Amino acid sequence: MTFDVSRVRAAYPALSDGYAYLDGAAGTQVPAGVIEAIADAYRSGIGNAGGAFPASGRADAIVTEGRRALADLTGADPQGVILGPNMTTLTYRLADTLSRRWGPEDEVVVSRLDHDANIRPWVQAAARSGATVRWAEVDISTAELPAAQYDDLLSERTRLVAVTAASNIVGTRPDVAAIAAAAHSVGALCYVDGVHATPHVPVDVRSLGADFYATSAYKWSGPHIGTVVADPALLESLHPDKLAPAPAGVPGRFERGTAAFADLAGVVAAVEHLAALGPPPTSSAVGSGTRRQRVLAAMAAVEQYEGQLFTRLLGGLARMRHVTLYGNAARRAPTAFFTVTGYTPRQVAERLAARKINVWNGDNYAWELTGALGLRESGGGVRAGLVHYNDEAEVERLLAAVAELAPDGVP
Ligand SMILES: Cc1ncc(COP(=O)(O)O)c(C=O)c1O
Repeated sequence: MTFDVSRVRAAYPALSDGYAYLDGAAGTQVPAGVIEAIADAYRSGIGNAGGAFPASGRADAIVTEGRRALADLTGADPQGVILGPNMTTLTYRLADTLSRRWGPEDEVVVSRLDHDANIRPWVQAAARSGATVRWAEVDISTAELPAAQYDDLLSERTRLVAVTAASNIVGTRPDVAAIAAAAHSVGALCYVDGVHATPHVPVDVRSLGADFYATSAYKWSGPHIGTVVADPALLESLHPDKLAPAPAGVPGRFERGTAAFADLAGVVAAVEHLAALGPPPTSSAVGSGTRRQRVLAAMAAVEQYEGQLFTRLLGGLARMRHVTLYGNAARRAPTAFFTVTGYTPRQVAERLAARKINVWNGDNYAWELTGALGLRESGGGVRAGLVHYNDEAEVERLLAAVAELAPDGVP
């Protein structure tokens, strides 16, 4: 099946401004359907949740639909979908809740591959409870996170293993299923950061073995809303701080204050957008069926399309002698991280911005990994991240602009 990227791009008003948006790893643009869903929610009148009048009923319906959509995206139970402003806030909340059970005898395992949002909340919660932190290390030559090392890191003292489903700078997708199985074999929980993986691959939290899986809608064409999904039975066993009159059940007791109802309507539209990226329902049985089935088929098509584009991007960068690429994992999200001889990462990003190409520079909050790569003091690296709305022309523009930075003009 060919992926109709022109049709996809036409759905995004922001993409017509002439810029190549290769900054999707830091946040994507949104399609018109998402913008309209948010505007429609406000236009039709929206009250706070739980009231006796129709505008309040609309807020309740949006919350129900939002949980369903996020469950369809991840393979979770809608009753286990915790809504919040972003992944970082929710992870701090869960670290606070889970660590109340920890003491000096306990251990948590974090990885050097992760974004700091899946490291620091656990490190700080461990420090408060007296628990020990153990580190899974990255093989710097490949940026792989070898799963085998968890056999040595885990013991009956381990309470939690936090690991990413994909690195937000080098794209590495570790063997989360193996790591989660190892965690479960010693009775530990596995908290998976799915923020970078979710826009690029089909997600099934059960086959990953994730006890908790976090993702943020603004990374996959939605608004700025985060979620953590978990088995409702697991959530029943946990008791976060909450206001006295706030919901006592799950997942409501994990959610603080009033939800962003209109944005949540946008989350539903974003999941619908993703679900529609797959094969048309009439062409085969694969693309038809439930929204969950359509999401899985669509994300498989996205993975394949992005993979082809990424091969072109990596191949082009690898041929340039003035470019150093980091990471070479066997399974990767389409995210390139590199430095350019003679330029700081910031200078590269500025030169590219002058060519109307958006890339990110710095540590990108992969604080431990940029440290391990020896890049933290020198300004990190340049990150060019592809998503499903990027196309070949944008990749070629990036390659041409980076080639111009060769010291003698000869890449
Ligand atoms: C892999 C990864 N994890 C966590 C986060 C933090 O997500 P949020 O901005 O929703 O707190 C990000 C954000 O860039 C990320 O890329």
